[in-house]
Amino acid sequence: MYLSSFSTGYSKIPAKMTSSPPPVKTSITPQPTSLPTRTIPGSYGLPILGPLTDRLDYSWFSGNDAFFKKRVEKNQSTVFRTNVPPCFPFFLANPNVVAVLDVKSFSHLFDMELVDKKNILVGDFMPSTKFTGDRRVCAYLDTTEPQHEKIKDFAADTLKRSTTIMIPTLTTLLDTMWDTVESQLPSGPVSYLVPIQKFCFAFLSRCIAGADTANSPDMAENGYLRMDRWLGVQLLPTVPINAFQPLVEIFLHSFPYPYFLVSNDYNKLYEFIEAEGKEVISRGQTEFKLSKDDAIHNLLFILGFNAFGGFSIFLPSLLASLGSDKSGIQEKLRKEVREKAESGLSFKSVTEMDLVQSFVYETLRLNPPVPLQYGRARKDFELSSHDSAYNVKKGELLCGYQPLVMRDPKVFDDPETFIPDRFTKEKGKELLNYLYWSNGPQTGTPSASNKQCPGKDFVALTASLFLAHLFLRYDSVTIADGSFSGVEKAKQ
Ligand code: HEM
Repeated sequence: MYLSSFSTGYSKIPAKMTSSPPPVKTSITPQPTSLPTRTIPGSYGLPILGPLTDRLDYSWFSGNDAFFKKRVEKNQSTVFRTNVPPCFPFFLANPNVVAVLDVKSFSHLFDMELVDKKNILVGDFMPSTKFTGDRRVCAYLDTTEPQHEKIKDFAADTLKRSTTIMIPTLTTLLDTMWDTVESQLPSGPVSYLVPIQKFCFAFLSRCIAGADTANSPDMAENGYLRMDRWLGVQLLPTVPINAFQPLVEIFLHSFPYPYFLVSNDYNKLYEFIEAEGKEVISRGQTEFKLSKDDAIHNLLFILGFNAFGGFSIFLPSLLASLGSDKSGIQEKLRKEVREKAESGLSFKSVTEMDLVQSFVYETLRLNPPVPLQYGRARKDFELSSHDSAYNVKKGELLCGYQPLVMRDPKVFDDPETFIPDRFTKEKGKELLNYLYWSNGPQTGTPSASNKQCPGKDFVALTASLFLAHLFLRYDSVTIADGSFSGVEKAKQ
């Protein structure tokens, strides 16, 4: 199974060896087609007014899901022109995009011959580099920039080196988390957001930066909050919030927030990594030829933005998938976990847990933690959806909204339904070619030549271990409305 490739699932093909990096190829990667050519439908509307009405519809009237769905219906096409926030009045960003909302058109975003990824992690708007020590960190670099290769190899190396401590660290931290939850349950339901975030911060600090929160009472207690604030202030302009409108539109979505609001938090996080992550920083300097500051600011971004940000969305949705199930999935998962991990949790035992892994993948399909991906056309090219071809011009920004792409009925049967064993057996494994949460297929290989998440296998493995640990400790858990309301200890 694919999890088994965790420690070697990163390819060290250097970007500079290929003048134009090879694209990720899947059987659905667009080939020259004989499909009918269509003009890209949709429009950007009148200057100022068009972007403004689209922004209000996206963030307020419809919400992002319905925003894209309505436009697919109106244009009778999964490829169309629209605006996405942020925009007018105080953002210089250009909101015009070409939306790509089916599996085939979305996969053009992985082809590094076709798209440039410079500075477009969250769209044409880029948060100030003040948030990242006055430098552009890895996720904002295109594959053609030499620094991208160095930092991406460094990121993959830190994860690879963490394999020896990963399972004991995860087990110890999860036991602490569950002990705390159990001690609070007699007073009523316990919201899982804080316990999960505390666990994620400690676990990821250790695995990515080698930094142990046990050596810093401030970080053990407040590290996750400091990260939340640093993330929140950068991302506010791009996050749709349906409550408290129109106040949110006026005060949170109309201008970027300045760095000084979170400089104290960021400096504390920097000091923590500098003091506790010495060994990893030193490898960054000697093996990957990064300056000390480049190593620390990139570690902080990878740890905080990429990993902590991703897991803080993903693990709660994993628990929500468990909580909303009515088919008896907990019993099936428990049975598989106890059978395969009879002699304890190990990488080998988890790779044998097909249902656990499929449950993880199905959660990632229906709730991709990073919903939007962007790519700027490097040249004029022909983009194809399942039924039409479209001419894209050099410089146009493609925008893929994954929650819709991952419900493409041409690829996924019964796409709106959570089917826990969807990714098992031969057909299920084939479907992994079209699971795109990591900015590439689940069967793809992250490398310096592409922009696929180097944490792809680590993420799926951690989530599988999280579930396996849960079902070794408990027979079942009761979860509703973002809280644990009961746990039944393992009887064995
Ligand atoms: C649930 C957790 C995670 C999610 C959902 C996630 C998702 C993603 C996505 C979607 C991208 C591509 C963004 C884009 O270019 O549009 C990305 C890139 C990246 N991720 Fe992850 N990620 C997660 C965890 C991690 C972890 C644990 C690491 C640790 C190494 C990591 C490191 C990175 C880096 C360095 C990039 C930039 C890649 C490049 O520039 O080529 N991520 N991630």
